[in-house]
Amino acid sequence: RSRRMGQPHEILDGIERYFGVSAPLAGLRALVTSGPTHEPIDPVRYIANRSSGRQGHAIAAACAALGARVTLVSGPSAQPDPAGVTTTHIETARQMLAACQAALPADAAIFAAAVADWHVARQSELKLKKTPDVTPPALALVANPDILATIAAAGPARPRPVIGFAAETHQLETHAEDKRRRKNADWIVANDVNPASGIMGGAENEVHLVTADGIETWPRLDKSEVARRLADRIAQVLST
Ligand code: C5P
Repeated sequence: RSRRMGQPHEILDGIERYFGVSAPLAGLRALVTSGPTHEPIDPVRYIANRSSGRQGHAIAAACAALGARVTLVSGPSAQPDPAGVTTTHIETARQMLAACQAALPADAAIFAAAVADWHVARQSELKLKKTPDVTPPALALVANPDILATIAAAGPARPRPVIGFAAETHQLETHAEDKRRRKNADWIVANDVNPASGIMGGAENEVHLVTADGIETWPRLDKSEVARRLADRIAQVLST
């Protein structure tokens, strides 16, 4: 845990604890990613996805409500910056990784962003022109860094728990457990992104919490309630 003595917020945390105010994450730091990333093609075009940032922003707010000092690293999103949270705005996956590394050390890290898997190999400095006699540009793509896996491998600076999300359309539990192991995450929050579920971009979420101890299925809840329950679970493990 990253504790330095004598900072004003720590004195406040101490007062809160002394008087029994419920701030179970007081004195602790949380890093949260949220939203999509935008990967530029040229100065006016980019590759993106449909992530709204709703779930990630709600998690940042829920951790702050429990007293954590939260850094939210967000891609372009229509969600307002949560109150009481330090929000860093980035566009690309590479910028998101750099901002996450700059936010360490952290006690808990929650990676809710829908990070693009690829960026365009050679971003054009000039707007690509469409001319009738020229063949359309072939976009060469390069893999983006995996931010979760990189931070989960961060050695002594590794937050604990490291929590990832898994958006799946089928065989949810198997794929989520695979992802947990492959990326060295402590927990995976798995959700169904079949268009019929209405979850992607919607107000509600129906998740399975995959940990080393097994899988818990939560009921369909408002994304803010999913966030509150997740923040409570983080507080539970960080207090033991
Ligand atoms: O591999 P996949 O993209 O399905 O993994 C999803 C999880 O990994 C999410 O928690 C997402 O935020 C994180 N992730 C990441 N960096 C990437 C890709 C995914 O942090 N480049």
